[in-house]
Amino acid sequence: MSDFTSGFWNVYVVVITFVSIVACGVLLWYQSKVRVKPGGQGPDKTGHVWDGDLEEYNNPLPKWWMNLFWITLVFSAIYLVLYPGMGTFQGVLGWSQVGEYEKERSAVEARVKPLYDKYAAMPIPAVAADAQARAMGERIFLNNCAQCHGSDAGGAKGFPNLRDGDWLYGGEPAKIVESVTAGRMGVMPPQGAALGEEGVRNVVAYVRSLSGLTADPLKAQLGKEKFMASCAACHGADGKGNPAVGAPNLTDKVWLHGSTEAAITETVTKGRNMNVSEGTLAMPAFKDVLGPARIHLVAAYVWSLSNTAAAK
Ligand code: HEC
Ligand code: HEC
Repeated sequence: MSDFTSGFWNVYVVVITFVSIVACGVLLWYQSKVRVKPGGQGPDKTGHVWDGDLEEYNNPLPKWWMNLFWITLVFSAIYLVLYPGMGTFQGVLGWSQVGEYEKERSAVEARVKPLYDKYAAMPIPAVAADAQARAMGERIFLNNCAQCHGSDAGGAKGFPNLRDGDWLYGGEPAKIVESVTAGRMGVMPPQGAALGEEGVRNVVAYVRSLSGLTADPLKAQLGKEKFMASCAACHGADGKGNPAVGAPNLTDKVWLHGSTEAAITETVTKGRNMNVSEGTLAMPAFKDVLGPARIHLVAAYVWSLSNTAAAK
């Protein structure tokens, strides 16, 4: 109720609620004054007639029916005193949905805390070897990560595969925890303007040649020089990438943004992840969403996917 923007709406709601209840009461009281006519006089009629002789009687409502209405009125009055409903009045019980949610949540937290504490104290490979912990990690993964990385963690274009043993930032347990806790946003700067069309074509040929894809050898040769000048700082002189900045290994056959000439040309020309507002493919930070204990579990699950021998 605190999101009313002005006091007017508070008064508005209170008045409408109050007047409605009083009006219902008045209507009931008025209706209960209608009495059945003493015997012999026949019932009151409204004067509405259908099909020649079908008349509408104006009999009073049955007592039990009226009493049900009175009960609902009394109930609503008591309810509005106890619970929030009258504008911004919080009710004498101080009940709120948020409070209810927090109560339930802290009850659950208290129940699972010993389990989380136990796993949090264990190194990640040991957690990954525990089937129950893996199942808990998988549930956290499905609820928080699957929409981007896929429910099998197999990834998609722009979203890294987490089960292939190929890592942008490193697959050691501590690196996975770091990725999930603080988030990641590897920025590939656009190089189109600096290289020119010709330069981009050559460097793309060189990049393709690094993983054995078909490429014009002459262009690749020319592109190599450009690569050393413009790309090696991040992707390494050998093109094997740099986990410190999340620059992918360009010599393996794993592609985040696609390996076709067109895809690589787009990557090099326009860059990747340049503008957050265009819905960049960044890894969100889960520090506040999950907290360290859950991150520990989900990291163990992720680690287990590419370390299957250790996790069994
Ligand atoms: C909004 C989409 C999104 C969600 C949700 C998301 N991720 Fe990511 N994640 C990404 C993207 C995009 C990257 C690659 C970031 C980059 O290239 O800099 C990434 C990178 C990672 C990496 C680093 C991979 C590597 O190769 O080094 C890990 C580990 C990871 N995510 C795990 C998780 C886990 C665990 C969760 C759930 C708690 C999660 N992600 C939720 C989009 C997401
Ligand atoms: C400032 C560091 C930096 C420089 C300089 C840089 N890159 Fe990148 N590059 C990255 C990062 C980080 C990514 C991963 C982007 C992401 O996470 O989506 C990337 C991604 C790529 C990809 C996509 C790989 C895939 O798996 O789909 C290609 C191709 C690429 N870079 C080629 C180049 C070339 C060619 C140059 C030089 C002309 C270059 N990069 C210069 C940091 C850099």
